[in-house]
Amino acid sequence: MANNMLHLTPPHREVPGCYAFPAEKIPPGTSAAAVSLPVVDMSRSRDEVCRAILDAGKEMGFFQASHIVEPRPVVNHGVPDRVMRDMESVCVEFFRLPAADKAALYSEDPRKTNRLFCGALYGNSGEKYWRDCLRLACTFPVDKSTEDWPGKPKRFREVAERFTVLTRGLGMELLRLLCQSLELRPDYFEGDLSGNDVILHVNHYPPCPDPSVTLGLPPHCDRGLITLLHPGTVPGLEIAYKGNWIKVEPLPNAFIVNFGLQLEVVTNGLLKSIEHRAMTNVARARTSVATFIMPTQACLVGPAEEFLSEDNPRRYRTMTYGEFSRGYTAVNMGSSPLHINTDLKNIQKI
Ligand code: OGA
Ligand code: NI
Repeated sequence: MANNMLHLTPPHREVPGCYAFPAEKIPPGTSAAAVSLPVVDMSRSRDEVCRAILDAGKEMGFFQASHIVEPRPVVNHGVPDRVMRDMESVCVEFFRLPAADKAALYSEDPRKTNRLFCGALYGNSGEKYWRDCLRLACTFPVDKSTEDWPGKPKRFREVAERFTVLTRGLGMELLRLLCQSLELRPDYFEGDLSGNDVILHVNHYPPCPDPSVTLGLPPHCDRGLITLLHPGTVPGLEIAYKGNWIKVEPLPNAFIVNFGLQLEVVTNGLLKSIEHRAMTNVARARTSVATFIMPTQACLVGPAEEFLSEDNPRRYRTMTYGEFSRGYTAVNMGSSPLHINTDLKNIQKI
């Protein structure tokens, strides 16, 4: 029932049992204030940008750690500030609409491409996360796929389509820049490797009476190639860094970019996909938009030849993205929600 959705129920005074974890299972973030992540300024020279992006990717890989933390925000990114603000507004407005305007979109069926769902994310343990989510799929080039997107608020489709086109454009540009840094041919990620529908998750985290026992999203790595997060203005994202959870302070009009598991595979582990989670807060609802660029189901993904040598043996299996995705879901389903094994170990790592 759509009325189960957190944002449609009267504010909770207590956390209902199915949303509560024993507090010791949710290690708190580092006590320091939220960190402003280093910024990749896309208006700098191509070489500088290439270097900055590669540094970000290697930071938690084979190289000595420095102060730089990935994922990092990207500014001057070619998505006009107005488009980011408009997207935030229509998404916030969407979650404020009366229940009746959203009932038709509500579905628990993961096979439905465009849907609104709540709480449960990974698995069947009955534990739930403090998040409602609007999932949207967009084919490229854009066809009729957006016709199934919400018709309200009035500007939603127009704004969200423009946002998706520009954000995907930024994602593809970042992948081209990575090719230059990694000495791959410039079109390495074009075609099937990035050819799946672009998926948008409009995440909505309502205020929560006890953030110490709830999670908006459990620790996870994104499964695709690259993710661009419009984090909104309210903090909540935390990323794993040297055994701690670091709180991320969102920068106005910047995207936070992180590498998906399939980019880790293609680069044979040179670029790491980093675990992250979303926390809740007592005071303010938070809305974020994640844009995922992914391979097609039939696309074979494995380490590129360029990253393999006698000194650098293959660390990941080559398999279709569909096969990997089924494994990813199965691993998640089988594990405790707080120890979700999304680090490829059981699926693709050799
Ligand atoms: C995601 C995600 C983080 C956030 O949607 O995969 O990690 O801050 N979101 O909402
Ligand atoms: Ni994520």
